[in-house]
Amino acid sequence: MLNNPKFAVALDRDGEEPIYRQLIRHIRAQIESGVLPAGTRLPASRDLAQQLNISRISVVNAYAELRAEGYLSAHAGRGTFIAGEPSKENTASHSNGTHPHAPPPELPTTPDRSIREMMRMSRKPGVINFAQGAPPPDFFPIQHLREAINTVLDRDGARALTYEVTEGFPPLRAAVRDYVSALGIRCTADHVLITGGTQQGIDMVIQALCSEGELIVTENPTYLGMIDIARTRRVQIHGIDIDDDGMRPDMLENYIMDNRPRVIYVNPTFHNPTGAVMPLHRRRQLLNIANEYRIPVLEDGVYHELRFEGDGLPPLKALDETGIVIHVSGFTKMMLPGLRIGYIISDSSHYERLVRVKQAADISSPSLNQRAMHLMLERGVMAQQLERNNRELKRRRDVALAAASRYLPPGSRWSIPQGGLYLWVQLPKHGPTAAEVYITAVHMGAAYAIGSVFFTNNCGGHRIRLNFGAQRPAEIEEGFKRIGRAWREVAVDYDIMEKPPIL
Ligand SMILES: Cc1ncc(COP(=O)(O)O)c(C=O)c1O
Repeated sequence: MLNNPKFAVALDRDGEEPIYRQLIRHIRAQIESGVLPAGTRLPASRDLAQQLNISRISVVNAYAELRAEGYLSAHAGRGTFIAGEPSKENTASHSNGTHPHAPPPELPTTPDRSIREMMRMSRKPGVINFAQGAPPPDFFPIQHLREAINTVLDRDGARALTYEVTEGFPPLRAAVRDYVSALGIRCTADHVLITGGTQQGIDMVIQALCSEGELIVTENPTYLGMIDIARTRRVQIHGIDIDDDGMRPDMLENYIMDNRPRVIYVNPTFHNPTGAVMPLHRRRQLLNIANEYRIPVLEDGVYHELRFEGDGLPPLKALDETGIVIHVSGFTKMMLPGLRIGYIISDSSHYERLVRVKQAADISSPSLNQRAMHLMLERGVMAQQLERNNRELKRRRDVALAAASRYLPPGSRWSIPQGGLYLWVQLPKHGPTAAEVYITAVHMGAAYAIGSVFFTNNCGGHRIRLNFGAQRPAEIEEGFKRIGRAWREVAVDYDIMEKPPIL
């Protein structure tokens, strides 16, 4: 194409339109005007990227989009070609730039934001979505919730619909105390603060403990919501590498000898995104380090109870003798994310400050939701749900492992999670990255979370996170098949066209 003197690509590098959309426009125009006739072989993505001085992902995405539109075809072993006449339907829909597969035109050009924008495409109808962090809607105890709300309204009337005290509905705080004591956490109801989900709990702790420009450490990779909070609160974030047992204490200690983070954030059980579980000896090591350097530990326990295999381990807060751990969690992943009920367990040293932050944020979490949740805990709905959900999650995990072996590209590796919702996959390093395959995968009807968004330092290009828990077995099977197919389609361009021919 570029050898063709008539082909000109004038890219506006500072404009609003993403580079890959501009490239699509140019190539499409060349095809429609006959400058690039059917059968023309396109340059390899790497070559074109080099010649235009743009990122390879822009070229890969442009090719993927044009393939989905019918302008290009990929032939295994030969490369990517201009297809025969694009259909009228395609041509018509592009003339006004409203192709149903077109990603949002405002896709920004910074890699991180582009990737997040791409992940928004996962919500398109018909896409089997493994990208989200939510538990499956078919787990939601809707009938129990209905009964609880009716009871609360009959019993409490308007009191259920006015402001609640900031710390939370007192009977719910007591119920949370009893609930966490079954996990080994010793506290009184005075140490329980009800939050708008775990997310708000994390945000409140960061607000209470950190000023702008201060530093927190996390695992690397870590929960994306934590990265978002750090960015919006203008707090620096440094990720400590993890291994199969979670955050590496040696690296943590090395780091904090020279840097003074205000908080250590960890998600020690069924870590998001890797599924790792920190063993007991490492939990103790982490607490020893935190105590030695007097750095509070923010423990995120939101997946703790989603265990379908392996031994249960105490949360860090259950091992905490000094009050160094602030525990945040919620009833979101086990029951009902939309009720937005979470909690913080904190000793008195931080509690008052946290209450002030909560008051400033939203006065209180919704009274009706708190009361309904309290009733469901009292009625044993949570325990019943957990047992059933974990049994089903194990079944889905097994289906996902079998489907991964069958359909993911050869050379892929993945964890075997014993709990939580996610399969953390490493795609073959010699092949396309997760971001490069993404648009093709969505066109083929399956979406995953692109692994690099979970890293604090832009690593993880070949990682994907798949929420197997969110889909039924038949969809898991079909979705993994689509992802494997998408990878092969992109790898055609990637591998075959760019390796020198074997003579
Ligand atoms: C590790 C982790 N913490 C917190 C949250 C937020 O949970 P919630 O819905 O309770 O706010 C999530 C959600 O994905 C998560 O994965």
